[in-house]
Amino acid sequence: MTASSLSFRLAVLFVVAGMAMGIGMAASQDHSIMPAHAHLNLLGWVSLFLFGIYYERRPALNASRTAMVQVVLWSVGTVVLTVAVAAIHLGYTAADPIAAIASLVILAAMLIFAYFVFRPAPVVEAGPTMRMTAAE
Ligand code: HEM
Repeated sequence: MTASSLSFRLAVLFVVAGMAMGIGMAASQDHSIMPAHAHLNLLGWVSLFLFGIYYERRPALNASRTAMVQVVLWSVGTVVLTVAVAAIHLGYTAADPIAAIASLVILAAMLIFAYFVFRPAPVVEAGPTMRMTAAE
């Protein structure tokens, strides 16, 4: 499996969970876990899907183990952070250090991604829509 297909699959699973959480909040009229819902959707759906698009456009990076590690680290961090943030907002303040560790894992994953973006001369493959044909 490539990093992009893993990103897309996990992103869809995260948004289904995030939407269920949102519907649960709305139905119960208890919005106390709203920060967990927001983080799950923005880290797990929006960011992960964007990573997937970036990787899909760079086939060598997409097939690399480091990109896979980045996606896995990000996803594990997102799950742990979501659970810990929900626990904190439900009154289990003991989850605070867990949220702190998860946030550092997510930061590490973002730093790996930053390395991919800033390293010299990344190869960008032209997609079909970017190919130019000579004018007649
Ligand atoms: C079935 C789909 C969804 C439902 C039913 C839902 C429901 C909710 C509810 C009830 C709140 C709490 C609002 C409040 O207390 O002020 C909320 C907040 C939030 N939701 Fe969702 N949501 C859904 C999908 C999403 C998605 C897909 C995203 C992001 C891509 C998202 C991002 C957010 C954010 C960022 C907040 C916090 C807003 C604030 O700070 O005021 N939600 N959502």
